[in-house]
Amino acid sequence: MFPATRMRRLRRSQTLRRLVRETRLSVDNLVYPLFVCPGRGVRDPIDSMPGNFRMSVDRLVEECREALDLGIPGVILFGIPEAKDATGSTSWAEKGIVQQAVRAIKERLPDLLVITDVCLCEYTSHGHCGVIRDGAVDNDATLPLLARQALSHAQAGADLVAPSDMMDGRVARIREALDGGGFQEVAIMSYAAKYASAFYGPFREAAGSAPEFGDRRGYQMDPPNVAEALREVRLDIEEGADIVMVKPALAYLDVIYRVKTTFGLPVAAYNVSGEFACIKAAAERGWLDEQRIVEEVLLSIRRAGADIILTYFAKQAARLLGRGGP
Ligand code: PBG
Repeated sequence: MFPATRMRRLRRSQTLRRLVRETRLSVDNLVYPLFVCPGRGVRDPIDSMPGNFRMSVDRLVEECREALDLGIPGVILFGIPEAKDATGSTSWAEKGIVQQAVRAIKERLPDLLVITDVCLCEYTSHGHCGVIRDGAVDNDATLPLLARQALSHAQAGADLVAPSDMMDGRVARIREALDGGGFQEVAIMSYAAKYASAFYGPFREAAGSAPEFGDRRGYQMDPPNVAEALREVRLDIEEGADIVMVKPALAYLDVIYRVKTTFGLPVAAYNVSGEFACIKAAAERGWLDEQRIVEEVLLSIRRAGADIILTYFAKQAARLLGRGGP
């Protein structure tokens, strides 16, 4: 008989397994992404993201209350504006859709952390993350617009701003604008290593932000590269990022690991729309056990080194964890 190993002894019961677990997933790790649109009483389902909705501010506040009651510490907001134009000017309007949403949430639920996504693609008529000059995105001309947008989010009461555009130099410009406006305390969570990924498909449908021409490969990262990701992250940290993000999560767990071990800063990982949709679609067909997959996937992101997980599974995971966890 092979003598019992330590490993075998420690796996004997659920309680013992819980005691020696190396990685813990908690509701404290979760951020819930939400889409806000104009109107009242709107709760418009997003077909490719079952259980997710485009919500008007009133319904959004209800959703936020539910998230807070489940113990979820924060939400990240994406705006679906009434009108779009070439420069995405509604993105920094004082009464813009995200600005209204932030005010409403902070007024009623001051304890919920509100993070805003800072980017132009949801607000530009062409769907690119920056302004276009001579058929291409103009990095430098985009920077002041992003800074203006971030400042308007801070003025509305955002706790953190999260630039997702991938323009070079935007973190420094945003930091400068926030400090200049008296918002030294507002943190920047930068989408530092954001890959040009096919996993954003459902999000672009939800936000109507698919580019009208070309793609985002000129500013988002090339999937085979990891040294480049570390360079991108380093630059964002030097420019003042407080939290750095890797996106998507599952196909880039090695990148999360490298970023965490190299820099030690808080790392966020975005479990994006396409990752969510894959699991939902397979579960609908009865091909996967959804609850178990959700736990396993979120744990894998934690194990890779992420401190914060942005996920459309946030409410589901919070309920699961509330029952004693995986
Ligand atoms: C905006 C933005 C995108 C996502 C987050 N912020 C889309 C994109 O880059 O095309 C994707 C999130 C998801 O897929 O869940 N730039």
